[in-house]
Amino acid sequence: MTHPADFIVPEVEDFDSPHALFAELRGRCPVAWANEMGGFWAVTRHEDIARVLTDWQTFTTTVQNVVPPVATTQRRPPLHLDPPGNIPYRNAILRFLSPRRIEAWKPVITRMVAEHLDPFVAAGGGDICADFSFTLPIALLAEFFRLSPKDADEIRRVGAEFNMALQRQDFDTLRERSDALYQIAARLIEERKSSPQDPDLDPVSNLLAVRVDGQALPDDKILGALRQFLLVGIIAPTTFIGSMAVHLARHPEHHAELTANPDLAPLALEELLRLYTPYRGFARTARHDVDLGGRTIKAGDALAVVFTSGNRDGDVFPDPDSYRLDRGETDLLTFGRGPHMCPGAPLARELLLETLRQLTQKTRRLTLTGPVEMTRWPEYGPLAVPLALSR
Ligand code: HEM
Repeated sequence: MTHPADFIVPEVEDFDSPHALFAELRGRCPVAWANEMGGFWAVTRHEDIARVLTDWQTFTTTVQNVVPPVATTQRRPPLHLDPPGNIPYRNAILRFLSPRRIEAWKPVITRMVAEHLDPFVAAGGGDICADFSFTLPIALLAEFFRLSPKDADEIRRVGAEFNMALQRQDFDTLRERSDALYQIAARLIEERKSSPQDPDLDPVSNLLAVRVDGQALPDDKILGALRQFLLVGIIAPTTFIGSMAVHLARHPEHHAELTANPDLAPLALEELLRLYTPYRGFARTARHDVDLGGRTIKAGDALAVVFTSGNRDGDVFPDPDSYRLDRGETDLLTFGRGPHMCPGAPLARELLLETLRQLTQKTRRLTLTGPVEMTRWPEYGPLAVPLALSR
């Protein structure tokens, strides 16, 4: 489907330019067509994003899940299935992310953040993405899936290479590393089949134990679900930690406030998750012609729900580009909405909160020492943040 373009996707971006573009689109053309990346509507206002995500009967997730479209050979539940097909996979995961379970993860997360952060702080800085945020979320997922030390090492290496290839849009390496992730997931499933673990403790054994109408979930879907989980859990925290670091470096007064008053960290995290929302390119496809934001979306058109933009919509967040800790209850889109809303949000929040706390307790000031390298669609955030730290 081709349309006259409402905007052109810039080839070069910096830390601030995507926000300037989205602010302009929200004012001029809030549902805007671009011909790049296969052609898509960018949905930039909070209200329209919430509608697309909750009206899954009109906007399906079974065709294209991200902009740019990444060719996939497999459906990876729960994200690639509409209700009710997604539900058994989603429930199997949610069970491990209840408030009680998250409570038990807190000391583990505190330890893991310290293990990864302390060498970085002792070195007086470096690139916080390469030296810290590319490895920490993968290490956490390795523990979450109770991987053997050997598998955990492999997934840390392959996951970091996959993440880097994705962020740098190196598609040959990406395919190869994606296959390697599938192989790790397949091996893990075989291991749990031959030596089952307690499904109450082990997420893979739990997926294998699920029965729908007396039937086990299909093997290829379990594999897809595991591969999906191994991936979605590592990408966003990586770039978002880079954004937090850039913000603290630019605003030493906010850093000092958090150092002096660590109880403000939860409020600060929510505000940073709003300002630097790491996903802009999760996608849906219209099942039939539909009006949205004054435009006619044709059946088969792809739509990107631009969370990065919706969270700076001035109709919902007054003074949207400012960091303010007095907003009270906020209606964030950072973790999505509706049937696919991020089940990992409580775990992600805990990991990011502990990172923000330890970073602002163990350092007095961050100083940028070089250019911030940025990722591209479907994410928003830095790939490299060179920093010097003062203690
Ligand atoms: C800053 C961190 C994170 C952000 C901003 C984030 C954001 C999101 C968003 C926006 C979605 C919905 C996508 C859509 O509707 O198309 C999603 C889905 C998902 N996320 Fe996260 N996520 C984060 C971390 C995590 C972590 C740590 C995990 C794993 C523990 C995780 C697991 C998942 C899964 C399994 C889905 C698919 C859910 C479904 O389809 O039902 N995420 N995430």
